[in-house]
Amino acid sequence: MIYVKNQEQIAKMRESCRIVKETLEFVGKNIKAGMTTKEVDELVYKYITASGATPSSLGYCGYPASSCVSVNEVVVHGIPSDRIILDGDIVSVDITVEKDGWQGDAARTFLIGNVSEEKKRLVKVTEECFFKAIEGLKAGTPLYDIGYQVQTHAESNGYGVVRALTGHGIGREMHEDPSVPNYGRKGTGVRLRAGMTICIEPMINMGTFKVNMHSPDGWTVTTADGLPSAHYENTVLITEEGVEILTL
Ligand code: MF3
Ligand code: CO
Ligand code: CO
Repeated sequence: MIYVKNQEQIAKMRESCRIVKETLEFVGKNIKAGMTTKEVDELVYKYITASGATPSSLGYCGYPASSCVSVNEVVVHGIPSDRIILDGDIVSVDITVEKDGWQGDAARTFLIGNVSEEKKRLVKVTEECFFKAIEGLKAGTPLYDIGYQVQTHAESNGYGVVRALTGHGIGREMHEDPSVPNYGRKGTGVRLRAGMTICIEPMINMGTFKVNMHSPDGWTVTTADGLPSAHYENTVLITEEGVEILTL
């Protein structure tokens, strides 16, 4: 069941999404080599709670932290730990915020210090995948056009598109219908309607699309070949004319 949100509900989502955006900007200003991923999570927790909101991932299905901090070969759901962030790493930080019963969700991949041209290009193309996906997106667009655009851009750059995880609807819950894959056939899937809110989140691998889903900690997803992966996510509102990116 895909919910269509009314103006009042959308106003609340704008607020939770604004906090997501600000938190990620705050992380971007402070993240640096030498920090542990747990220290990044502490920044996230402090910023979100000081904004009068709640980090939704804390306790979600037993998840132990306020953010997912995924370094290099970690695709998503990296549990903040004592892992030290090194010069040259790419670090994706994914956060979900609840304010007044409504959710916002976004992720950025940060470049730490001197990053190789190869990794920089991966991060750039991953961001481009998101913007290709929203080009022309509006009420009436078939859902899988999103994945088609992401997949076409990623694969034409020689990258692997993660299949095992997808974007999703969002609203009162962090994860709602529909599932929003990063691959697909143009012209297929349900037609989106104005008032739907979805998270579009390309997860793009430098090498194979294959990932390890069953890590000992129950969460951390890594690339099967150990090559780096990047993640970029925004919460998006579908309108008659186009989209409103709520977390930008
Ligand atoms: N923010 C993630 C997403 O984009 C989900 C977080 S999983 C959690 O869907 F366990 F950390 F909550
Ligand atoms: Co997210
Ligand atoms: Co998401």
